[in-house]
Amino acid sequence: MQLVTEENITDLAVERWGTARDPRLAEIMRALVRHLHDFAREVQLTEDEWMAAMQWLTRTGQISDEKRMEFILASDVLGLSMLVVQMNHRFDPRATPATVLGPFHIEGSPEFDFGADMAAGIPGRPLYVHGTVRDLEGKPVAGAVLDVWQADTEGAYEAQLEVDEARLRGKYTSRDDGSYCVRTIAPKGYTIPMDGPVGELISQTEISHFRPAHVHFLVTADGHQPLITHLFEEGADYLDSDVVFGTKAELVVALVPHEPGPTPDGGTSDEAWVEARYDFVLQPT
Ligand code: BEZ
Ligand code: FE
Repeated sequence: MQLVTEENITDLAVERWGTARDPRLAEIMRALVRHLHDFAREVQLTEDEWMAAMQWLTRTGQISDEKRMEFILASDVLGLSMLVVQMNHRFDPRATPATVLGPFHIEGSPEFDFGADMAAGIPGRPLYVHGTVRDLEGKPVAGAVLDVWQADTEGAYEAQLEVDEARLRGKYTSRDDGSYCVRTIAPKGYTIPMDGPVGELISQTEISHFRPAHVHFLVTADGHQPLITHLFEEGADYLDSDVVFGTKAELVVALVPHEPGPTPDGGTSDEAWVEARYDFVLQPT
């Protein structure tokens, strides 16, 4: 008979989970058990605290579905998502850095031509984001697909609304000279969803629950690693306190205001518009 004590339970559990038939799963489970036990010992976890944690996890599962990803949000605000991104995308310093995907990307966005408006009919300041897609040596990358998505000026993503049509998202393809041009609206800072268990926890702290104004990009091209990133507005609120730790200096761009007149796609705007120039640099596979 194996007698369990406070002293030997960790070794027993580590050994038991080390029997996972997949070696990587065995490695992960052994380390998980060790760190969980160390954590409980370090904070001398009480039974009430353990029960509160179980109830919080239960509520996190109950509020989640394909659109509401509360566990991912928990990972984001704990800095885990961004740590995993950084460990898995140690790009050349010349490449555009990666950041978090976030929970609001939708597959299968409509395709748009150079300079076409992915925000047609949605109120906001017209924004042109344009530049080239390049490789590490500075050579243009033609045929790169830029999958772009963002929130509206109320901070809402399509995934958070009941809408039938694609909204504020689209795919643009770089031209032979690597150039691309996205016409959208200037983003605004927004709060992450605060009406669930993650918000409940954040409300008990001094943590800001806002993200700085940004547009999301997923750039894919043959021979290059997919790049999941954002562009942030220079001078935006919350750049230093992004609740999901997603900001990087290299991803901050100026939004330059322009009077009505010629636009970067070769057209003209009869409204005032703003311009962001950015060259995406891709890491080879
Ligand atoms: C986003 O930028 O869309 C996002 C990222 C992480 C958590 C919530 C939102
Ligand atoms: Fe976002």
